[in-house]
Amino acid sequence: MHIHVLGAAAGGGFPQWNCNCFNCDGLRKGTIKATKRTQSSICVSGDGVNWVLFNASPDVLQQIQDFAPLQPGRAIRDSGIQAIILIDAQIDHTTGLFMLREGKVKREIYCTDMVYEDLTSGNQILNILGHYCGINRHDVPIDGNTSFEIPNVPNLRFTAVALKSAAPPYSPHRNDPHPGDTIGVLIEEISTGKKCWYSPGLGEIEPHLPPLMSQADCIMVDGTFWTNTEMIDMGLMTKTARSIGHNPQSGEGGMIEKLNEFGDVRKVLIHINNTNPILREDSAERAILDTHKIEVAYDGMDIIL
Ligand code: MLT
Ligand code: MN
Ligand code: ZN
Repeated sequence: MHIHVLGAAAGGGFPQWNCNCFNCDGLRKGTIKATKRTQSSICVSGDGVNWVLFNASPDVLQQIQDFAPLQPGRAIRDSGIQAIILIDAQIDHTTGLFMLREGKVKREIYCTDMVYEDLTSGNQILNILGHYCGINRHDVPIDGNTSFEIPNVPNLRFTAVALKSAAPPYSPHRNDPHPGDTIGVLIEEISTGKKCWYSPGLGEIEPHLPPLMSQADCIMVDGTFWTNTEMIDMGLMTKTARSIGHNPQSGEGGMIEKLNEFGDVRKVLIHINNTNPILREDSAERAILDTHKIEVAYDGMDIIL
């Protein structure tokens, strides 16, 4: 299985256009050891030719330009992207769909009922696409037992499960979580049995998750914040990380402690907010991750399982 990180940053990217925090300012000025990152998305293939896109980042056009296998090569209108799985309805995971509106072939969109509802009500993007390429929407089962395959994406199988996170700020039920607002997905390469767990928005590792996550050869999870109060401490937000659906890395019950329970598999943080000190390659926080063998995703990272 080939997993390619198209974008490793959380909403806003790194640097964020209006942010003057230590990291964003330092990246612009070249005074910190870090690299820029676009907003979070990965693509996965089981044959190296046909790809499933996980989320459609606002930066998707740049991401396609930077990764040749997604570019047209077989027909006058063509793409290596055969289908798109949306793990939530957040702006940073869906608005790239506007950029993928060209063509006569409908986009194949896989999402839960909750995500579909948000993307046809609070955010009308899937309705609007009906005036351009159109979409074929496919339901994603979230019982954790029912796997599905995607036509035209050979050799991959997907098993999704509902996560405790939060619906987008614009959602009519932002403060009233529903199963399916956010999902995690176990991706399996059928020919090899290799598996990757992907959950860029993960508020809490609830008891129903380890049975799925522990099957994975690579665990890619929410790397948004280092502390629960990161945005409050910087005066940027009044809400904690957990309250907006992101379990922080440090502290009791944090992502480092939780990931340690999965033993000696590859562990990668993705969807990293620009305020997070782990973006600085020489930071004390990055050194802590190193001691736990937890990697920090970057744009262009390839994971071959
Ligand atoms: C999130 O991950 O919490 C959201 O993407 C935040 C946002 O939309 O900026
Ligand atoms: Mn996000
Ligand atoms: Zn910043």
